This record gives sequence, C-alpha cells and structure tokens, in this order.
Amino acid sequence: MKNKYLIANWKMNKTLDENRDFFKIFLKKALTIPKTQIIFCPPFVGLFDVSNTLSGTGIEVGAQNVYFEESGAFTGETSTTMLKNCGCVWVILGHSERRSIFLEEEKLIRRKLENVLSSGLSPILCIGESLDERKNNDTSNVLYSQLSSALKNISNNSVENLIIAYEPVWAIGTGMVATASMIQETHNNIKQILTKLNFDNSKIPLIYGGSVKPNNAKELINIDNVDGFLVGGASLDPHVFYDIYNKF
Ligand code: PGA
Repeated sequence: MKNKYLIANWKMNKTLDENRDFFKIFLKKALTIPKTQIIFCPPFVGLFDVSNTLSGTGIEVGAQNVYFEESGAFTGETSTTMLKNCGCVWVILGHSERRSIFLEEEKLIRRKLENVLSSGLSPILCIGESLDERKNNDTSNVLYSQLSSALKNISNNSVENLIIAYEPVWAIGTGMVATASMIQETHNNIKQILTKLNFDNSKIPLIYGGSVKPNNAKELINIDNVDGFLVGGASLDPHVFYDIYNKF
C-alpha cells in the first residue's frame, strides 16, 4: 500500500481527445514523489484509452461508478468485470452527486461496495454531511449512518484496499473548503466510528475532498490524519493538478 493518494475525479468532463491532450502534458512532468499513488477517474468511455495511455507509468485508473450485478438486462449500467477488462483498479462509490442527483440510497451503495470488494477492484467510498447537517451538529450522526450502512456486511479482513474519502457536500465544487481543524476533527471522528464498527482504522486510508486547490493543498496534506485528496475541478488542468501533486 502507498502512504498517500492523489485521486482525480473528472466527473462528466473531457472527450477522448481532451484526455490525450491532458496526458501529453502531465506525463512529461517529474512524477517522482515516493509512496504517492496517483489515480485518474475519467468518464466510462475514456477508461480503456486512459488505461492504455497510463500503462507502465505506475499511475492507476478508476471508474466513477459501477453496478452490482455481473451482466444482464440493466440498461445503461456497467459491471466490475467490464471495468477490470478496461484496466480499472479503483471505483468511486457513494459520491454525493450520485447520492443527491441520481438518488442512490444507502442500500444500493452497500450492495455496490460488497460487489466491488468481492470482485477484486478497490473501492473509494465517499461520505460527507450537507451544510444543514453540519449547522445542526449532525455531522457525526450522518457519518456514522453512512459508514455503518455501507460497511454493514463487511469484515475487517476484506477491506484491505478500501479508501474512505471524506467530502463535506457543502465544500464540493463551491470553493468553500473545510478548515484544517475541521478536517482533522472530522477525520478523527471517522476513525473512531471505524473502530466502533470493528475495523482497524490504521489500515484504511482516509482522504479529503472538496475544493482542494494548489493554494490550500500544502496545509491540508500536512494534517496528520489526511492520507491524500479526491480532487474534482482542480484535476482537469494538468498544470494545476501537478501543482497539487507537488505539495505532497
Ligand atoms: P471539487 O470536487 O474538488 O471540485 O470540489 C471534489 C469531488 O467531488 O470529488
């Protein structure tokens, strides 16, 4: 396992040509920071091409979603086998945009997580509270409920490659970033919740996401319980994303 993770969530951005243009620039840069795993999560249609481009670089590829069934009449869906066949190693699950826009519920996220773990792919499970929930002092309860539900049928032995991404919903794409003390406190809280749920929290990397930019990355990566970032907007430009990498 690497110690730090820098994950690009491209969301619904970039065509194949734009992906290639990105890597023409990005792969010329010095990517030599030790024990730091870079992962790119392009849209589904770009996965195969991006995997080929990144083959042999040590950079890994992830999908932004997956379905829990293996094959069949599930129009518009994609299975873990298809993702692996495209060179994917990781899958983002439970992103707040999937929860709020596509109405993904806890039970669906749980089934996806179980399926991803048994497929051999590695999940990046996103959790986080809304602004109202934070204002109402409900953050802890929300995180507990998201984690206990997603991990309900999963044992400590099977989460070897799980990453948890704490992404306060109010900080995603808004430019509003959580303060260092807020992140530190919330990550501690998540670790306590994991212990309560019988997981060895030292084995589960905990990364932060929500308006990470070159100008706040240094401060945030130096928080002792932050193991990396999930980056949306600032991962779309190779120079900006590289600036974040350089803060590790
Ligand atoms: P952002 O997105 O960096 O644009 O806030 C983060 C995410 O949604 O993963």
